[in-house]
Amino acid sequence: MKTLRKLFATLSLIIIISPFIFMSCAGSGSMEEKEKKVEELLSQMTLEEKVGQLMQKNADHPQLGELISRGLLGSILNEPDPERLHEWQKLAVEKSRLGIPLLIGRDVIHGFKTIFPIPLGQAASWNPDLVEKGARIAATEAASMGVNWSFAPMVDVTRDPRWGRIAESFGEDHLLNGLFGSAVVRGFQGGDLADPTTIAACVKHFAAYGWAEGGRDYNTANIPENELFDVILPPFKMCIEAGAASIMTAFNDINGIPATGHVPLMRDLLRNEWGFEGVVLSDWESLIQMVIHGYTPTDKEAAYKAMQATMDMEMASTAYENYLQELVKDGRINEKQIDDAVRRILTMKYDLGLFDNPYPYLAEFPELLDPSHLEAAKQMAIESTVLLKNNGALPLSADVQRIAVIGPLADAPHDQMGTWVFDGDKEHTVTPLQSLREMAAETGKEIFYHRALPLSRSQEITNPGAILSDVRRADVVLLFLGEESILSGEAHSLANIDLQGAQEELVQLVAGQGIPVVAVIMAGRPVTFEKIEPLMDAVLYAWHPGTMGGPAITDLIFGKVSPSGKLPVTFPRHVGQIPIYYNHKNTGKPATYDTWMHIDDIPEEAVQYSLGNTSHYLDYGFEPMYPFGYGLSYSTFELRNLALEKQQIQAGEVLEITVTLENRGDVEAAEVVQLYTRQLFGSRVRPVKELRDFQKVKLTPGQQKKITFKLNTRDLGFHNPDMEYVVESGEYHLWVGTDSRSGLKTAFEIKH
Ligand code: BGC
Repeated sequence: MKTLRKLFATLSLIIIISPFIFMSCAGSGSMEEKEKKVEELLSQMTLEEKVGQLMQKNADHPQLGELISRGLLGSILNEPDPERLHEWQKLAVEKSRLGIPLLIGRDVIHGFKTIFPIPLGQAASWNPDLVEKGARIAATEAASMGVNWSFAPMVDVTRDPRWGRIAESFGEDHLLNGLFGSAVVRGFQGGDLADPTTIAACVKHFAAYGWAEGGRDYNTANIPENELFDVILPPFKMCIEAGAASIMTAFNDINGIPATGHVPLMRDLLRNEWGFEGVVLSDWESLIQMVIHGYTPTDKEAAYKAMQATMDMEMASTAYENYLQELVKDGRINEKQIDDAVRRILTMKYDLGLFDNPYPYLAEFPELLDPSHLEAAKQMAIESTVLLKNNGALPLSADVQRIAVIGPLADAPHDQMGTWVFDGDKEHTVTPLQSLREMAAETGKEIFYHRALPLSRSQEITNPGAILSDVRRADVVLLFLGEESILSGEAHSLANIDLQGAQEELVQLVAGQGIPVVAVIMAGRPVTFEKIEPLMDAVLYAWHPGTMGGPAITDLIFGKVSPSGKLPVTFPRHVGQIPIYYNHKNTGKPATYDTWMHIDDIPEEAVQYSLGNTSHYLDYGFEPMYPFGYGLSYSTFELRNLALEKQQIQAGEVLEITVTLENRGDVEAAEVVQLYTRQLFGSRVRPVKELRDFQKVKLTPGQQKKITFKLNTRDLGFHNPDMEYVVESGEYHLWVGTDSRSGLKTAFEIKH
């Protein structure tokens, strides 16, 4: 713990916390008024009432009404009915002794009624402004129903597509998680939490939940301390700097200590070093799960640990309710600790403006699913979709007349919304089939539709003969493959991430007829499909694209707009390659194609190993299927004139980098220009590449643009063997490219 504390001290010197955290959410009055209100309430509260504020209960709890009327409940979750919410708030405000309103929590993960692409898809847009806009819309819709607190964003960096909750993350890179997480925080909270269209963000899961061993949800996170600080924690820090009102703990243990009772991580780092003054909420029963983990013998000890860690509010379980008063009487917990937690919760209620108006604001809001909301969801679905392969089959020409639409995801209105859509309604979804049919009706085209498999995991193709005869009379086959929404999400991890069921057979059935096959894959994670990829002429990866997935995909297929998504996560060729990620280390024996001996090339008589001696698999080599940052366009772009303002720079200075991007194709399109660096030698081995910045630029044919990046050398540091954050002198390589594998390259040197 000593090391941790030393490290935290260093970290806080280097990263300056925005004063916004302390001043944000001024709510409906001045700082003094706020403090006065909160302290007045605190001074009147009994210990029982204080403990009540630290409790969050599910809306179906049998004693909810009674607890609220007696002023013994701080928050409820999972009540979607605005009228019920109105009643609960009315009870809290008018019936309870002190009239303290409730925090109303809900998982508003990627939209409320208007469902946007899953967060992993949103990250593929590489467009944080768009993601902020989406979160703003979600907040407006949710707030209109009386929700004032969302359990998002999730910024758990993960390198494991088996993990079902990869769908909810912004991928494998910490910068992307930090940038998109803070965009969501800004979108939810706006400039003022008291604005009736804003809701409080809850950044989760603190911490290392995405590091679950083997991708099995809830599992142990074993992570070296330096990686914890260099990879896992930075996105949380960025969200806090963006003003996040609250944080949720994680289910997992981190190197043996359950996150919900992690004193060094929460009390020492989050509170004391980072200065976070917002609310910390447990995950669902994660507090009492410390007993199941084998960390505390009883719920009472779990409550003690969580209090020591400054965990303010307990979701669903009742250890605080049952034991905090006793722990105070035993003299093990100081009432001041409870006051601090209550103060943070009351402050958040004040900041949200709930003391002025706790009620749902339905009447004052634009319609749910307002056309502008749907338009934004469509734009996000367009920008999230990644073109993985195109041998010229896309975009379809206007001459295409007969279209075979085949597959279990072509018309799956619930599944295309993805995981975590408590409030989304499949009735509002526009599927690709609906949208293509609409387009066909307007243009006189013919659609032949076969679902082929009732579900993505069904083992038998329905009516293969009819499918084949329709394929043969079509100009193009559009295959809609992927996963149902239920195959990703919480506790929905998979050991096999190949396309499920008989989908490979389906591809084999329709291919080879001389008709172009375009696959659109909708999934909550990267799926592996190497075996059948050669049978596909083009592949669009649409993730679970949400309410407006259909119109977005139709526009992309017919070239109304060019794809511009880029992968926020590496796609493996085979599940056995996991973990495989772009910012890995070089090792002492990196593999090359010269050294990779393929299993098929091993002579039958070979008995001794003499196989190249580098870090690879005999069967699957060393490269992924598609690298991080990858995605094609209908246009072609050229990057040239990469120039650095100077070749040598002092640590702490900003390096200006310029490059020219030209659209050399014949359609308007956007390209994501990505900046990576590598520190060649360090006191610890550094990754072969690290994403530092990016810009998404839209250009018309022939148009060129000079792009400027400002690279702050302060951000190039890491935690050295003494666990100090350092920016080291020495040589660095720098790439500007359109994915993590290629690009223009140059070098610079940092001096101290
Ligand atoms: C999840 C959280 C979620 C909570 C409330 C838990 O099971 O891990 O992310 O916010 O439930 O629904």
